[in-house]
Amino acid sequence: MQIHETAFIISTYRSMHPEVSKDPYAHLWNNSKTDSLLPEILDFISEHEPLLHSLRNRFFLEEMTAFFERYPNATLLNFGAGFSMYQFVLPETVQTVEIDKEDIVNYKKEKIAAWMKDGTLPKRKINYLSMDFNTIAVNKIVHELTKSLTDAPTFILLEGVLFFLNSKTTNELFQLFGAIQKSGDLLGSVSYDPQVQTTDVYQKLLAYFDKNNDTNDTFAHQTLPVSFYQNLKEYTLLKNTDEFETARVYAVNYKLPKKTEVLNESLYILKKN
Ligand SMILES: C[S@@+](CC[C@H](N)C(=O)[O-])C[C@H]1O[C@@H](n2cnc3c(N)ncnc32)[C@H](O)[C@@H]1O
Repeated sequence: MQIHETAFIISTYRSMHPEVSKDPYAHLWNNSKTDSLLPEILDFISEHEPLLHSLRNRFFLEEMTAFFERYPNATLLNFGAGFSMYQFVLPETVQTVEIDKEDIVNYKKEKIAAWMKDGTLPKRKINYLSMDFNTIAVNKIVHELTKSLTDAPTFILLEGVLFFLNSKTTNELFQLFGAIQKSGDLLGSVSYDPQVQTTDVYQKLLAYFDKNNDTNDTFAHQTLPVSFYQNLKEYTLLKNTDEFETARVYAVNYKLPKKTEVLNESLYILKKN
């Protein structure tokens, strides 16, 4: 499996529960290749993956909606944006910078431009930056990003990315976030807590990736304890929840099994000191 395929899969998950994800545009990315992968994933790993990823999207959408209500001219910096579509449900005053690998950025940019032109999508101000977090120097990213930033507050999102990164790249990214954000700016992050490694369902996820991995793709399988976030000197941890808990708020009609039986990711909101 190539890394861009994971972005298509997550987007398809969101399209399966638009009432939970509140992403009415996710279906635009659906395609037959991704559809053909889903039955095996849902059967082999967990049938609850679409709901949990829709909950993840909903959690961050609610957090960002509150932030951009306070700061309508603020900027969303979406690191590893994949095919997420937050900018089209957030107010049009919000500027977005989408950052991802070159193949994703080029494909998304072209499609979005066509859909904004033909009225499928509302008009939004979007900048795109293509980069590989593993190979680019932090100071170069700061330079690239600051070209597209105003003085307005920023919300940085790092959703569904940390699993694929190693600790060196992760530390460099958080150093970068600290360098570009100002006091009061927010950062949303997702990662697996190391505890999750003891669950059967996480082992099935690893087995699935091992079975379907392309030689060119490096999946670090990173997990991060809450102490990683608590120890960030430049940030204060404001919220720490997980997908299973958010189901109690946004998916009360869905029956989930026990927390340890679903692939439960932790969700964090941090504030720049
Ligand atoms: C599972 S997808 C999640 C996409 C989106 N954030 C979401 O939640 O729907 C992971 C994304 O991270 C990006 N990504 C992973 N490793 C990366 C790297 N080293 N540099 C840049 N982007 C990376 C992938 O290209 C992909 O779009």
